[in-house]
Amino acid sequence: MTDHVLIFDTTLRDGEQSPGATMTHAEKLEIAEMLDDMGVDIIEAGFPIASEGDFNAVAEIAKRAKSAQICGLSRANFKDIDRCWEAVKHAGNPRIHTFIGTSPLHRAIPNLDMDQMAERIHDCVTHARNLCDNVQWSSMDATRTEWDFLKRTVDIAIKAGATTINIPDTVGYTEPGESADLIRRLLEEVENAETVIFSTHCHNDLGMATANSLAAVNGGARQIECTINGLGERAGNTALEEVVMALRVRNDVMPYDTKIDTTKIMNISRRVATVSGFPVQFNKAIVGKNAFAHESGIHQDGMLKNRETFEVMKPEDVGLTGTSLPLGKHSGRAALRDKLGKLGFEMGDNELKDIFVRFKDLADRKKEVFDEDLIALVHQNSSDD
Ligand code: KIV
Ligand code: ZN
Repeated sequence: MTDHVLIFDTTLRDGEQSPGATMTHAEKLEIAEMLDDMGVDIIEAGFPIASEGDFNAVAEIAKRAKSAQICGLSRANFKDIDRCWEAVKHAGNPRIHTFIGTSPLHRAIPNLDMDQMAERIHDCVTHARNLCDNVQWSSMDATRTEWDFLKRTVDIAIKAGATTINIPDTVGYTEPGESADLIRRLLEEVENAETVIFSTHCHNDLGMATANSLAAVNGGARQIECTINGLGERAGNTALEEVVMALRVRNDVMPYDTKIDTTKIMNISRRVATVSGFPVQFNKAIVGKNAFAHESGIHQDGMLKNRETFEVMKPEDVGLTGTSLPLGKHSGRAALRDKLGKLGFEMGDNELKDIFVRFKDLADRKKEVFDEDLIALVHQNSSDD
């Protein structure tokens, strides 16, 4: 089994399904281009049957893609699959992704019994495969599907020609141990499982999407489905930046690689936040405003001596220019001296001591002390002397 993990980005499909995250045609093309440039292997560009706009966006993205495979989503029916193919067929490497909900709750919606559903899967995957060599099957709500039936759906999809089998944790219900076991067991027990790529698609309802995706990789999955900033329905999808950086930083225990250029992460994160209208929370892993910021005196002092004291990765690796040491009431003398030095003020210990008192007084009244505040403090101090 290869050590390479494919990154399947669904920002433009599952991400855009977040209520309020709709993007314009031009914005979608721009994000797709950025995803392609950063090395995403597969871009799920939309759900072509959903609207004329989605169809056009997927078709245009397919025409423009340079190296990424372009995928469209379709429910398990011929009309959806045909529409999807019409949109993705322009790509150098198109993919049809078709799915149906296989858990008891989801089977009740189209009112299909297990045999009827099995037949539907066979027919739809066969139909998709007659159109396209690259077909992904998803048993939606796989983690709440009875084991025997899940295994049966996967078996049918493989026999009908699916090349990727996706095991979605549609409602973010699973936990890492189960996530790994499910993929491992499918790989062991389904006939010809080794001929396809197993994929993981996790939602974050219980905050475990990243952990579950990585566990699935440990269990044998070789495709992670994710979105920029974890955008997605309800609590979102697995965040691309989290799984990619985790695989990179903890390669000692998760020896898998991706072909993502991580230095492009910040840029696309900011762009997705802007176009989707979903701001990134300050303390969000990897891309939050505070992910590489240190305010407390002990942390700032440590960072000034050795950045590894409080950072497990370099900000430059995700496209930032460096660590930030914002000055606030928790900051210490070392950071103040460093900052004043950067502003061009070299001073002796006594002067620094005086300014530090003034600085603490100001910091008690303000959340953050900015460069202009410090310059004013220095001038005030020298005029009072
Ligand atoms: O969450 C889910 O199950 C999905 C499928 C369509 C793959 O998004
Ligand atoms: Zn999903």
